[in-house]
Amino acid sequence: MSRILISGGTVVAATGSFPADVAIDGERIVSLFEPGSTLLGHFNADRVIDATGKLVVPGGVDVHTHMEMPSAGTVSADTFETGTLAAAWGGTTTIVDFAGQARGSGLRQAWEAEMAKAEGRCVIDFGLHMIVSDVNDSSLAEMDGMVQEGVTSFKLFMAYPGVLYSDDGQILRAMQKAAQCAATIMMHAENGIAIDVLVSQALQRNERDPKYHASSRPSILEGEATHRAIVLAQVAGAPLYIVHLSAAEALAEVVAARDAGALVHAETCPQYLFLSAGSLDQPGFEGAKFVCSPPLRGSSHHEDLWRGLAGGDLSVVATDHCPFCFKGQKEVGRGDFSRIPNGLPGVEHRMELIYQGVVEGRISQERWVELTSTAPARLFGMYPAKGVIQPGADADLVVFDPTTVHTVSAASHHMAVDYSCYEGLDLTGRVETVLSRGRVLVERGAFVGALGGGRYLKRAAPPAHL
Ligand code: URP
Ligand code: ZN
Ligand code: ZN
Repeated sequence: MSRILISGGTVVAATGSFPADVAIDGERIVSLFEPGSTLLGHFNADRVIDATGKLVVPGGVDVHTHMEMPSAGTVSADTFETGTLAAAWGGTTTIVDFAGQARGSGLRQAWEAEMAKAEGRCVIDFGLHMIVSDVNDSSLAEMDGMVQEGVTSFKLFMAYPGVLYSDDGQILRAMQKAAQCAATIMMHAENGIAIDVLVSQALQRNERDPKYHASSRPSILEGEATHRAIVLAQVAGAPLYIVHLSAAEALAEVVAARDAGALVHAETCPQYLFLSAGSLDQPGFEGAKFVCSPPLRGSSHHEDLWRGLAGGDLSVVATDHCPFCFKGQKEVGRGDFSRIPNGLPGVEHRMELIYQGVVEGRISQERWVELTSTAPARLFGMYPAKGVIQPGADADLVVFDPTTVHTVSAASHHMAVDYSCYEGLDLTGRVETVLSRGRVLVERGAFVGALGGGRYLKRAAPPAHL
């Protein structure tokens, strides 16, 4: 493998920004030099990537994706190959996806099946969380073995009764087990029992359009579930990570818990910062393109979430990338919103979307790097190989042009889905060059890497004070 120097750029870390040349030998970063000092012969590079006027940032870490995931009688549209290719185009060099336990079967079986789908197909490095949909003596006992395989986080659902749902007793037991085996519980916090009542009442009133997906999942039921999850985690003494937090009510619960010293972190997603429930109320069936759970909220929530990101109450931005094509997939729910497959595409645009927070003065560029790379790498046991630019770290690097303006469109994106939630949105700042473990994947608007070069990441336990 080659020796590469990325010269002339500004290195952005969670802790500060400084001009430096980044030297790579093979798969790793070996040194950071004062700009220009390698001309004195400190490092002989096979090739130099000129980053003058650009930011050099650690590759993005998206800890919430669903490639080729079975759901609602179909399968999410991106494979591990197309989805990780799209991720790379957008400057994400690590994903953590999910293996899903089927009810009545085991965790190892689910993990092996997911590994068979992903291994050898990912363009970038990947890890797996485990969705536990059947909490019982046997699946709890299996959690130890999963941790040995590098699955150090387990997702539970307070939504979707009869499918993925766990009741409070099951949640408590899984949290106790997680505390014992040094794993993190990830929680989908919506009160699914109450939501199912509201959904069936809406359908009885013949409210069938996509917009009723949002009105039957009110934000107060996300707040309630978030509160309950936090209390149960406190009882169990387990670290808790709230996924896809969408609502001010849920954020308030996280803030109160963190202020009281609880081991709670939360992620939000770009869709909850840029899109709102009004998108579900478009003419025809177009609103189906925006159906995900928790649902998009009123735009009044956006400000709270941005403040949460800036002030440290929200720890991570992940995508919850779960794409379904409009034609043939979302369409299945015509005439019954409850049958629309839940999920939005987004893995390609997370880094650039959240950079708009820097452009608009909502967050610093250091916080941008922290939210999209450093913090997720730390919280999910991948740091310091991932999420940081320092000697010894994997050479997962992005050269980011902070000034170029471009427009998001399904016509030019790389995700295997026939629409974009952000169609026509102008973004300032663009991913220019992407390296994964020293391999150049994207440069000058072309994919120049090899398919299938991504490796499985055996993740460590979360830090003690998650
Ligand atoms: O609507 C969503 N979020 N679909 C993906 C599955 C999940 O709950 O994260
Ligand atoms: Zn979820
Ligand atoms: Zn998800």
